[in-house]
Amino acid sequence: MTQPHPASSTFRPDLLAGKHALITGGGSGINLGIAQSFAAHGCAVTILGRNLEKAQNAAQGIVEAGGRALGVSADVRDFAAMQAAVAQAVAEQGDFDIVLAGAAGNFPAPVDGISPNGFKTVVEIDLIGTYHTVKAAAPHLKTPGGNVLSISAYGVPVPMQAHVVAAKAGVDALTQTLAIEWGLRGVRVNAIIPGPIDGTEGMARLAPDEKTRQQFTRTVPLGRFGVPQDIANAALFLVSDAASYVTGVILPVDGGQNMLGGAPQYQMYLASQAANKSG
Ligand code: COA
Repeated sequence: MTQPHPASSTFRPDLLAGKHALITGGGSGINLGIAQSFAAHGCAVTILGRNLEKAQNAAQGIVEAGGRALGVSADVRDFAAMQAAVAQAVAEQGDFDIVLAGAAGNFPAPVDGISPNGFKTVVEIDLIGTYHTVKAAAPHLKTPGGNVLSISAYGVPVPMQAHVVAAKAGVDALTQTLAIEWGLRGVRVNAIIPGPIDGTEGMARLAPDEKTRQQFTRTVPLGRFGVPQDIANAALFLVSDAASYVTGVILPVDGGQNMLGGAPQYQMYLASQAANKSG
């Protein structure tokens, strides 16, 4: 994905001028798209990832495009490492205006085909990792005016994704509870449910071939995959003053997929079961 020139953006170029965003999982995919977009609208970003080189490369790309960015390393499952990475980010770029919990882990597997450690791993990255992010960043989140944004998923039951659905339901509950607790601090807390987004590791795992891609396309009323910029635009809106009365919202940005519940994915599941049987 290319970093948009602010002139081509719906949002004014200085929308996030002077602000600092922590973005976990920002080294690639949807979260990198958000980091690039925030930077293109004046925000300094700290990209946090497990792999330092990947986080630093992503940050370097933003710097080369004229933005302010820092890459730091931590595994969101490790709270002490998160605290250390947050301390480094704050020392170099100041307190946070925006905390975006985007780090996630995913693979397709049925409930009885995943090991206890596999299930636990996804819950630890997606749910506990979101909590660790918020908890580590909280002492450095500006009040009033701070924003927390999480990347959720589905919002409905989806076969082969019980570990993710369960973890993200927890993320949604955390988002809304925090929105209530932190409302009087002037901190807004929201989440985005992305639909199938092209060019991401998640989609590469879930739709590895053309046939599966076409099946996914048919699960979306708008009839197409989204692009990272679709999610970045929603994120820009939610952290901007245009959304100053919006908190506790779990916003699907998915071409309408969420309206259909989990039915389209169930149809795909039935088709794959039938194919497995006949194959
Ligand atoms: N099906 C079933 N189980 C799987 C699996 C798969 N496709 N991939 C991993 N697992 C299980 C492993 O077998 C292991 O369990 P075990 O110890 O009982 O064998 C457990 O998950 C942990 O795997 P491991 O590779 O050791 O964990 P990790 O911390 O290195 O990686 C993952 C975490 C598994 C979530 C990995 O997919 C990942 O790093 N994902 C990040 C990127 C990503 O998913 N992006 C998309 C976001 S939507």
